[in-house]
Amino acid sequence: MGLMILSASLKKTIKSLILFILMKRKCKMKFFLDTAEIDEIRALYDTGLVDGVTTNPSLIMKSGRDIFEVTKEICDLVDGPVSAEVAALDYETMVREAAALYNIADNICLKVPLTVDGIKTCKHFADQGLKVNVTLCFSAAQALLAAKAGATFISPFVGRHDDIGQNGMALIADIRQIYDNYDFQTEILVASTRHPVHITDSALIGADVVTLPAKVLNQLFKHPLTDNGLAGFLKDWEKTGQTIA
Ligand code: E4P
Repeated sequence: MGLMILSASLKKTIKSLILFILMKRKCKMKFFLDTAEIDEIRALYDTGLVDGVTTNPSLIMKSGRDIFEVTKEICDLVDGPVSAEVAALDYETMVREAAALYNIADNICLKVPLTVDGIKTCKHFADQGLKVNVTLCFSAAQALLAAKAGATFISPFVGRHDDIGQNGMALIADIRQIYDNYDFQTEILVASTRHPVHITDSALIGADVVTLPAKVLNQLFKHPLTDNGLAGFLKDWEKTGQTIA
């Protein structure tokens, strides 16, 4: 009898383990483009690698465009979530701005800063089933608050951490562990990425999403041995005098 109970519980454990592995396998890492430049998005969207877009007030300023016009264009072009950030600091105004931003398109993901009012705003809209990205996260404790408030995404800024001599990727690993400990559904969206190592490290840790400037996504394709190898193959192919199509 004891043996039967043990074997039943063992079976259950194995089943849960298999389910866990299968579920993990199913979730692919998402790439968002971190830009409000419509031409950059259009050029890279054709690769089929872009799953969404993130913007912020600085990127809108850099684009020189009206926030509503450019965000609508991005939403029309891109099939995934497009983060649009509030500019207000207080809850009431954030809620008003959020209503205007959500109104742009169905794929808008509201972006709020990691402040008391931002977290309140996050909870308000997450409770209604709307997407919220909590931005300007610089600590694991802040990431925990966002998850408890039901954020769809938490955006920890790795590059800005590195800029002040801290280890941005260590923060991502801590958040991964905390979210996994409690099975929080909030997705870790690694932001402020500056180079390809930020992307591969994020993948090694198991971050759900990375948001990359177009330059970094383009850098991911590059390797000098690919260029050299291709040049060698082309040279030899020409010598065969053959064509394929
Ligand atoms: C995206 O959501 C962030 O606003 C962005 O990645 C910040 O990047 P930066 O630190 O390069 O400005």
